[in-house]
Amino acid sequence: MSRRLSTTPALSAAQRSRLQRDLLDWFRANPRDLAWRRTGDPYRIWVSEVMLQQTQIATVIPYYERFLARFPTARALAAATDHALLKVWQGLGYYRRAMHLREAARVIVREHGGRVPDDPEAFAALPGVGRYTCGAVQSIAFGRRMAALDGNAIRVISRWLGLTKCVDETATKAALWQAAESLVPAEGDGPPRPATAGASPLRIGFNDPGDWNQAIMEFGALLCQPRSPRCSECPVQRDCGANRRGLQGRIPVRRKRKAIPHIEVGAGIVWRRGRILLCKRKADAMLGGLWEFPGGKRNAGETIQNCIRRELKEECDLGVRVGEHLIDVTHTYTHLRVTLRCYHCQAGPGQVKKIGCDDARWVLPHKIPAFPLPAADVRILQALGAAQER
Ligand code: ADE
Repeated sequence: MSRRLSTTPALSAAQRSRLQRDLLDWFRANPRDLAWRRTGDPYRIWVSEVMLQQTQIATVIPYYERFLARFPTARALAAATDHALLKVWQGLGYYRRAMHLREAARVIVREHGGRVPDDPEAFAALPGVGRYTCGAVQSIAFGRRMAALDGNAIRVISRWLGLTKCVDETATKAALWQAAESLVPAEGDGPPRPATAGASPLRIGFNDPGDWNQAIMEFGALLCQPRSPRCSECPVQRDCGANRRGLQGRIPVRRKRKAIPHIEVGAGIVWRRGRILLCKRKADAMLGGLWEFPGGKRNAGETIQNCIRRELKEECDLGVRVGEHLIDVTHTYTHLRVTLRCYHCQAGPGQVKKIGCDDARWVLPHKIPAFPLPAADVRILQALGAAQER
């Protein structure tokens, strides 16, 4: 038996060039019209790639437009306050992405004259820029021959390879990166550019590496889907190792996910003279920088009312009387499911101290929508009937 079985399968040079030709032809014939494909501005391309991490295209589109209207340049973003930045990002999730984007913009202003560096090393050194983002932006914006391996590309390439090893293993990931890099065409390697390049409002057909990476993303989203891949419509079927062996439904092989823990949190709608207490979450915490109705995790054996009293004391040194129940809200994050049990509370006397939060304010209910809030707190606000800005 061949010893090759224990190593990662490889594609031949002939297969690689056929894949490049056939997939680029397919993509260039029918690219989706997406706002970030209408620009050559590296800053806009970078913003799109950050927003598209872990997030569906349809969700991203309105955020992308609003974000760029508010922060059209790296310089404008560098000057953003937490409040303005998180407010435009509200609802998109993974808020650290926004904070990193601004930190990176500040470095760009300080060290690169306000321009996104056309240099992979300098770009990769920016906060929040990982290997995927670096490859995607450097290839799409600058035509550099770099791979961009995200979840879609992992699925596509592991199917082409017929890879039956678990793609969550470090060694397999490394092999996939290597395969992805060997597949990116050098500038000029690809098929002839369409005659419309430059005439179309889309910036497709300007460089092979950028088109290639987007072709893989497009192919993963439209044809080589996680469940029920559309192999009968596939432009590269003959070069697909998974299809040849009928394994497309079983590749990529993934590690079994652990069950997500579920916690219960007590939250207070704490009133004082017609205003409600909002607390700003600590910058280094999950949802850092966002404002919330204060509270915290219920301990085993503790009533939810005692939990809210204890949390308000610990977080703000504030005594409260817990009153009526408002709503229970369950929200699922990537690694955690949280049920917020919300109660109206009356604040006792004394100043609020910022012990477990970065800031705290007494806010008129109709002013709360102006604050950046986690999705779960937006639902609480809706239940409160104060969601409409008046
Ligand atoms: N997903 C990540 N980047 C993308 C891009 N540039 N176009 C479409 N989908 C994507």
